[in-house]
Amino acid sequence: MADYLLQVEDLTVKFGGLTAVNRFNIAVQRGTIHALIGPNGAGKSTTFNCISRFYQPTTGRILLDGVDVTNMPASRMAGLGVARTFQNLELFGELTVFENVMIGAHVHAGKTWGDALSACPASVVDHVERLLERTGLSAYRNACARNLDFGHQKLLELARALAIRPRLLLLDEPAAGLRNREIAALDALLTDLCNREGITILLVEHVMQLVMAISHKVTVLNFGTKIAEGTPEEVRNDSSVIEAYLGQEMINA
Ligand SMILES: Nc1ncnc2c1ncn2[C@@H]1O[C@H](COP(=O)(O)OP(=O)(O)OP(=O)(O)O)[C@@H](O)[C@H]1O
Ligand SMILES: [Mg+2]
Repeated sequence: MADYLLQVEDLTVKFGGLTAVNRFNIAVQRGTIHALIGPNGAGKSTTFNCISRFYQPTTGRILLDGVDVTNMPASRMAGLGVARTFQNLELFGELTVFENVMIGAHVHAGKTWGDALSACPASVVDHVERLLERTGLSAYRNACARNLDFGHQKLLELARALAIRPRLLLLDEPAAGLRNREIAALDALLTDLCNREGITILLVEHVMQLVMAISHKVTVLNFGTKIAEGTPEEVRNDSSVIEAYLGQEMINA
């Protein structure tokens, strides 16, 4: 078993003349929460999109458990235990909260979503109900996804990602739109997923209160390039990070 569940090696992504990610490396230790932070446009979501195989890197490699998945189709990543949420939400707006998570649960079994909603074993329904409870969405079970506020839609994406029982969870700004009380609940949930269930989490987030509280390691991107990496304490006190990002975040806060 490789020490690192995820390794990104020398990743470069170019969009025409723009280099969004430049020779970036990150190694995510199994069973940890690893945050990827940096200013707007730094290349965080682009990196996520390469790992989840939505974007093809210009150069570089992505290894999952030591296996090169750089050319794996996105549709196969759930089967390998990789789940993600999207910065800008990719829900089925017309379906209910319950149905959205149910679809996630069936991706693993390779079924279509028509099958997912018609024939569902009780164990799957129980699993989905439990996820709705854990993400604080039980009260919205029968609401149409599009009628939830942004924060609850983000939580629904998290519940749907968890439905595939991932070993690697890629979260793109899960705390966006959440109130302080909800951020505290998210903090507890992510910590629990990591500590009790051994799920490895790569977390992109601007809410520093969450990042600094739960991450084992933090990597900082700026203009597509890694500028720092270390414990939350080390990164928080790094002058290049303060200059490029945290100084501005503190002013915003
Ligand atoms: N599909 C695309 N086509 C062209 N340019 C893109 C595309 N996706 C991202 N970019 C550009 O790549 C750069 C990195 O964007 P990215 O979305 O990865 O940043 P980010 O770190 O996630 O920022 P934010 O914190 O605002 O979400 C930006 O300059 C962005 O405009
Ligand atoms: Mg982004």
